[in-house]
Amino acid sequence: MGQVAETEFRLRGMFFSGTGTTKKIVTAVADGMGRSSDRFSRAEDIDFTPPAAREQTYRFGREDVLVFGVPVIAGRVPNVLLPFLNTLEGGGAIAIPVVLYGNRNFDDALIELRNILEERGFHTVAAAAFIGEHSFSRILAAGRPDEQDLQIAADFAKAAAARIEELASEGGSAEGLARVLDELEPVRVDGQEPIRPYYKPRDRKGNHINILKVKPKLDPDKCTGCGICVDACPMGSIKAEAPGVVDGICIKCCGCEKKCPEGALYFDDEGYLYHKRELELGYPDRKEPNLYL
Ligand SMILES: Cc1cc2nc3c(=O)[nH]c(=O)nc-3n(C[C@H](O)[C@H](O)[C@H](O)COP(=O)(O)O)c2cc1C
Ligand code: SF4
Ligand code: SF4
Repeated sequence: MGQVAETEFRLRGMFFSGTGTTKKIVTAVADGMGRSSDRFSRAEDIDFTPPAAREQTYRFGREDVLVFGVPVIAGRVPNVLLPFLNTLEGGGAIAIPVVLYGNRNFDDALIELRNILEERGFHTVAAAAFIGEHSFSRILAAGRPDEQDLQIAADFAKAAAARIEELASEGGSAEGLARVLDELEPVRVDGQEPIRPYYKPRDRKGNHINILKVKPKLDPDKCTGCGICVDACPMGSIKAEAPGVVDGICIKCCGCEKKCPEGALYFDDEGYLYHKRELELGYPDRKEPNLYL
């Protein structure tokens, strides 16, 4: 157990977050758990949004507890993250998978994330799907996660901490807990198996709208060259030599567009804008988080 005493855990959040909604919930849950029990020593979070952070291999052990979050993309775990996620080494650590979705649906994202973490050697003991302002929009789930969501995150954190306390007491020692966890079923979450294909937006005639190659455009009259978008892009597709110019893979996370202080970045692709409007009109009712313990 290294430096950590037998009954203690090193607790941290680990997340990918283009516009910050996943980060907000993951840190709220990890902070809440840290406050709920003396067993946890709150360690620094791992933000794997920047491309450089995904070049490292992360190895965990039985002393670790992770609140692990990704946004939902097309009803699934973002596929660009799969090569990285498949390098994780759980080493028997406890993980709490969390997904953030933009008020449409999380479909099979949570079950997929849970399965990846289990396959990588983590034990999933609780899970949650929260709602975040939709990446594409400023009105769909606007401002979420909000105060109400954060209260739910705090309550969930308390319950997740209590669940870990319960498992640790049942095990009685680090070795006993490892045995309890080995026998434990992965946390049950909503979703389907086999996991369904990526969600496909469709136009009025039912034809697939392909936004794969869509990228934000730059209004050079507004751009001051501040470089915020360069740091914001999780794909490293905006180079410091040409801030605002997207030259590489774009996952439409909208981090650059939403963080640009000048409003210099915009999308004008017809299919993308149609899909965005359809989402805004189609999912006006507030959804609430799903918690699994
Ligand atoms: C390409 C793309 C696809 C998305 N697909 C879905 C989806 O299938 N269902 C949904 O409800 N939200 C979807 N979203 C919205 C995000 O899951 C949501 O806004 C999330 O809060 C973003 O997290 P972040 O702020 O950490 O980047 C999608 C966002 C992007 C960029
Ligand atoms: S964040 Fe906006 S203003 Fe700053 S460099 Fe990028 S596009 Fe230009
Ligand atoms: S260029 Fe694309 S991937 Fe990069 S921050 Fe902007 S929207 Fe996200």
